[in-house]
Amino acid sequence: MDGSRHLGLGHNSGSAAAAPAYDVERVRADFPILHRPVHGKRLAYLDSAGSAQKPRAVIDAEVRAYETAYSNVHRGASYLSGVATQAYEDARATVARFVNAREAREVVFTKNATEAINLVAFAWGRKALRPGDEILISEMEHHSNIVPWQLVAEQTGAVVKAVPIDGAGNFLLDEYERLLTPRTKMVAVTHVSNVLGTVVPIADVARLAHKVGAKVLIDGCQGIVHEPVDVQALDVDFYVCSAHKLYGPSAIGALWGRGALLDAMPPFQGGGGMIETVTIERTTFAPVPARFEAGTPAIAQAPAFAAALDYIGSTGFAAIEAHERALLDYGTALLQDIPGVMIHGQAREKTAVIAFTVGEVHAHDVATIVDKHGVAVRSGHHCTQPLHAKLGVAATCRASLGMYSTRADLDQLAAALRNVQEIFR
Ligand code: ALA
Repeated sequence: MDGSRHLGLGHNSGSAAAAPAYDVERVRADFPILHRPVHGKRLAYLDSAGSAQKPRAVIDAEVRAYETAYSNVHRGASYLSGVATQAYEDARATVARFVNAREAREVVFTKNATEAINLVAFAWGRKALRPGDEILISEMEHHSNIVPWQLVAEQTGAVVKAVPIDGAGNFLLDEYERLLTPRTKMVAVTHVSNVLGTVVPIADVARLAHKVGAKVLIDGCQGIVHEPVDVQALDVDFYVCSAHKLYGPSAIGALWGRGALLDAMPPFQGGGGMIETVTIERTTFAPVPARFEAGTPAIAQAPAFAAALDYIGSTGFAAIEAHERALLDYGTALLQDIPGVMIHGQAREKTAVIAFTVGEVHAHDVATIVDKHGVAVRSGHHCTQPLHAKLGVAATCRASLGMYSTRADLDQLAAALRNVQEIFR
């Protein structure tokens, strides 16, 4: 991967400035789906935060696994089981390198980021939390970083509290510091808001949390896609992500956790593959990461996940960041110029996402009309009902950028939005 690591400080951190020229058309040529028309129009895919499209290298890796290296993993003496197991474990090592983990065993493969958060909430939380303990989240969390904590709080007597954001969508570090007390046992916040694009200063979040002895989980779904992540430099305790947002396959994600913390956690789910010995009376458990991978895992998807990370690495984060930053500025100016369009989220540190409303027109109507122009955006509450309550809107539209996005995509969106204005005039 690209050598220029930085610490989640957003697109103004300077590393983008040195980026080499970026040939977006060459990148786009690697993504077959971008070349299919939609409703007879050029596809402008602006929903990468919902799920990113896949380069040929990822598609080929999954096909190759099924065609040449497929059998169940960790479960057989056959040649094919051996090659499949090797590919699966190589993929774990690739993920570990991508986040600069100390050891590959600190990476647990999960179904997705949601499952990874649930794993920590239940395996860590049920053991560690006591009545009156506090779990700090933020007002802009995705439901997947709210609901698991509410569930475990109900079971343990812990309390969930939220760090406020300001009107622009900035994470309020001083309010956060005020909320931190010795009762705080877990701080679980997003790296980047999936709606506002706000980049949370997660290194500062971790430093302050550790002062009161709290653990830190980062929902990295929308962060690791846009900038390098170094879990050791960030000094967080858990970092989770989903492959499908990283240009990889669906149905696989990863939990990175500090080895010592994972070692001390009981299983989350029981089943095959996570045991040491089983009798009718009792079971002893495998060491991590197997302890947390009950049942047959995503065998063919793991090497495809690794292929996605290699693809990002070979393109280079510095170039991707610079490209996405320029597009964010371009798209923001373009949309701001359309009467009636209101952008939600103007944080100082922001990346790759533009949420907006168009006058009083319902977001689903906007999305349906722009779709007829070939423009794919997401509409609704984006699994962030508390954030939308704070914004005072039921729903927004969201244009989100990826490494293959272009000015032409944003121009197509702007033209489609002018058509929305005409229809609802
Ligand atoms: N979490 C994804 C999104 O924000 C699905 O759209």
